[in-house]
Amino acid sequence: MAPSLGFSHVLAFVLLAVKSSASLSDYAPTLTDCPDSPLVRTFTSTSQVLNPSESNFVASRESSIIPQSWQSWLGNGSAIGYDTTAFSGFARVGIAISGGGYRASQFGAGVISALDARNATAVSAGTGGLLQVATYLSGLSGGSWLTAGLYMNGFPMVQDMVLGSQPGWLLQEDLLEPAGSDGLIDVLEYYDAIDRSVDAKANAGFNVTIGDGWARALSYHFLSETNLSNFFDTSSHGAGQLWSQISNAAFFTNHQAPFPLVVLDSNGTFDLTTESIPLDLPVYEVSPFEFSSFDPDVSAAAELSYIGTSLFQGVPVDNAACVTGFDQAGFVIGTSSNIFASLLFADTVEVELLQTLLGEPIEGESPEEAVVSKWPNPFRGLASSTFVDSSNAELQLIDGGSNGEGIPLNPLLVKTREVDAIVAVEGSSDTDDNWPNGLSLLFSAERLSTLLGDSHQQLPELPSSTDDFVAQGLNLRPTFFGCNSTDTPLVIFIPNSPPFTGDAPFSNAPTTQVQFETTETQTILDQTFINTIGGYVPNTNSPDPNWGLCLQCAAIDRSRLKTTRTIDRSSFCTTCFNQYCYNPSNITSSSELPNRNLTYAGPASSL
Ligand SMILES: *[C@@H]1O[C@H](CO)[C@@H](O)[C@H](O)[C@H]1NC(C)=O
Ligand SMILES: *[C@@H]1O[C@H](CO)[C@@H](O)[C@H](O)[C@H]1NC(C)=O
Ligand SMILES: *[C@@H]1O[C@H](CO)[C@@H](O)[C@H](O)[C@H]1NC(C)=O
Ligand SMILES: *[C@@H]1O[C@H](CO)[C@@H](O)[C@H](O)[C@H]1NC(C)=O
Ligand SMILES: *[C@@H]1O[C@H](CO)[C@@H](O)[C@H](O)[C@H]1NC(C)=O
Ligand SMILES: *[C@@H]1O[C@H](CO)[C@@H](O)[C@H](O)[C@H]1NC(C)=O
Ligand SMILES: *[C@@H]1O[C@H](CO)[C@@H](O)[C@H](O)[C@H]1NC(C)=O
Ligand SMILES: *[C@@H]1O[C@H](CO)[C@@H](O)[C@H](O)[C@H]1NC(C)=O
Repeated sequence: MAPSLGFSHVLAFVLLAVKSSASLSDYAPTLTDCPDSPLVRTFTSTSQVLNPSESNFVASRESSIIPQSWQSWLGNGSAIGYDTTAFSGFARVGIAISGGGYRASQFGAGVISALDARNATAVSAGTGGLLQVATYLSGLSGGSWLTAGLYMNGFPMVQDMVLGSQPGWLLQEDLLEPAGSDGLIDVLEYYDAIDRSVDAKANAGFNVTIGDGWARALSYHFLSETNLSNFFDTSSHGAGQLWSQISNAAFFTNHQAPFPLVVLDSNGTFDLTTESIPLDLPVYEVSPFEFSSFDPDVSAAAELSYIGTSLFQGVPVDNAACVTGFDQAGFVIGTSSNIFASLLFADTVEVELLQTLLGEPIEGESPEEAVVSKWPNPFRGLASSTFVDSSNAELQLIDGGSNGEGIPLNPLLVKTREVDAIVAVEGSSDTDDNWPNGLSLLFSAERLSTLLGDSHQQLPELPSSTDDFVAQGLNLRPTFFGCNSTDTPLVIFIPNSPPFTGDAPFSNAPTTQVQFETTETQTILDQTFINTIGGYVPNTNSPDPNWGLCLQCAAIDRSRLKTTRTIDRSSFCTTCFNQYCYNPSNITSSSELPNRNLTYAGPASSL
C-alpha cells in the first residue's frame, strides 16, 4: 500500500498550487517537449516573408482600427486641403524610438505623449493622433525601455506610466545603487535579489553574464511590479514576464497599439574613433512572435516563445528539451541596452566590480565574455557561407545602437513591411551638450546603401555630414526628409532639442545619469511634450500654430500615391513642406533658431 500523504501535506500542496505566485527564480527558463510545428523559418532578401501572425495583426489593425483613427485625427481632411475619402489606402506609418539611456526613454515618452490621441492637449494641438494611426513602433536601448513600459503594461498613457499610479518608473531610485527613501536600506539586499534570479538561470544550464544582472535591474523600473514599498523585498520584480506574452494581452489581440519591434546588435570589434562596431555584422529584431534578422546574410526567423532552445539547421537538437521562458522581457531590453562591451572597450568600467554587483563571475570567463548578453544561437548551421555566427552555439548580443545606428530604423525599412512614413524620435547624445547631430541617420544610410540594397528600403537624401546637420539647425527642430522622393519613405525627424522658448533644458542629461528626481522627470516630460506639440517658427521663440496640421500633412502624404491617379499635394501642405522639408536647394541655418539654450540644467552626473 502506498504511504498516505496525510491531510496537512495535501492541504499545503493545494495551497501552494493555488498560490503559485511569481518569484525571483521565474527568471530561469524551463524545459519542455518540442512542438510539432517548425521553430525556425528562412527566406531570402528578395523573397522575404513576414511571420503570418504579424501579417494578420497588421491586416486587422489596418482594417478595423486605423481608418477610424485617421478619421478621428484628420476628420475629412479639409483642414489640410484633402478629402480623405478620395484616398484608396492610407500611408503606413512607423515610429522609431532611439537609444540614449534614461534620457532617451524620458524624451521618447514626452514625444509619445504628444502624439497620443488620448492626451487632450496633444489633440487640440493637432499632433495627438499620430500614435493611433501607426502600424509599427520600434525601440532600441533606452527606447526599448519605453517600449517595454508601454507593451508590458497594457499600453498605458505616458504620464500615468512614468510618474503615476502604475506605479511609475521609479527613476528616483538609482539604477545601480538604489538607496531607499531613508537611505538606510542595505543595497546588498538588492544585489542579492538580482543574484537569485541570475543564479536560477545559471542553475538551469544557461551561460549568464553581466547582461542578466542588468536585465533584472531594468525590470524593477519598467515592468511595473516594483514600487517604493516593495523595492527591497524578494518578490518577483518582473521575473517571469515574457516578451512573447505581449501577443496574449487584450490591447494587442484587439490591435489597439502599433506592432512593436526591438533591435539588438551583434558583438564585434569596436572602432575607437567612432565608438561603434562594423556595419557588416548582423542586426537582429525581436517581435512578440519572433527573433529574426532580415539582413541578407541571415534572412531567418525563430519562434520567440521557444528561443533559447538548442537548434541545429532549424531543428531542435533534442525533441524533449525545448526551452520556454528564455524571452524574459527584462532580458530583451537588457540585451538591447547592453552597453557594457563598449564601456569595457573605452576602459570606463571595472568588469570585476560590475560582475560583483550584477552577476556571479563565472570561473574562467574573460571580461569580454562577461559583458555580452548570450542567446543560444537559433540559426546555428544555417546560411554557413554568409552568416558569421553560423557555427557558434551562442550569439553574443549587445546594445542595439552599438553599430552607430542609434535609431531603430532597420526593422521599419524591411522591404516587405512597406512602411511609407517613419517618425524618427532621436534622443542620442552626439554633441558635448548631449544633443543629437544626425550621426545615427548617417550611419543607417551608409549601412543601408552598402549592404541592404535588396532587403531594405533606403533612406531619403540627407545632409552629407553631421557638421552640415548642425549648421543647418536640423538638430534643433522637427524636419521632414524625402518629401518629394517616390522610392523611399518620408522621414519625420524629431530630435531631442532644447525648448524653443529659450528655457534652460532638462532633456539632455548624460547617458550615464541613472537617477532622476520626480520633479526632473516631470520637467523633461513637459519640455519635450511642449516642443513636440509646438514645431517652430523661423527667427522666433514661438510655437507654430500650424505645426499639428503640418505633421498631419507629412504623415498622410504618401496616401496621395495610393490611388490610380496621384492626388496633388494640397496648397496648405505645400506651404508646410516649404518650411519643414529638408531641401538641398533651400538650405536653412541654425541662426533661424535664436536663443536656444543648449546647456543642461540638471544636476551633475552621478557616475
Ligand atoms: C469636412 O468637415 C468640415 C468640418 O467638419 C465641414 O465643414 C465640411 O463640410 C466637410 N467637407 C465635406 C466634403 O464633407
Ligand atoms: C498630456 O501629456 C503631458 C506630458 O506627458 C502631461 O503633462 C499632461 O498632463 C497630459 N495631458 C492630459 C490632458 O492628459
Ligand atoms: C555555454 O558556454 C559554453 C562554452 O562557451 C558552450 O559550450 C555552451 O554551449 C554554452 N551553453 C549554452 C546553453 O549555450
Ligand atoms: C507595492 O506592490 C505590492 C505588490 O504588487 C503591493 O502588494 C503593494 O500594495 C504595493 N504598495 C504600494 C504602496 O503601492
Ligand atoms: C566582442 O568583441 C570584442 C571586440 O572585437 C572582442 O574583443 C571580444 O572578444 C568579443 N566578445 C566575445 C564574447 O566574443
Ligand atoms: C525656404 O525655406 C524657408 C524656411 O527656412 C521657407 O520659409 C521658404 O518658404 C522656403 N522656400 C522655398 C522656395 O521652399
Ligand atoms: C518638391 O517639389 C516641388 C514641386 O516640384 C518643389 O516646389 C519643392 O521645392 C520640392 N521640395 C523639395 C523638398 O525638394
Ligand atoms: C542656459 O541654461 C543654463 C542652465 O542649464 C543657465 O545656467 C544659463 O544661464 C542659461 N543661459 C542663458 C543664456 O540663459
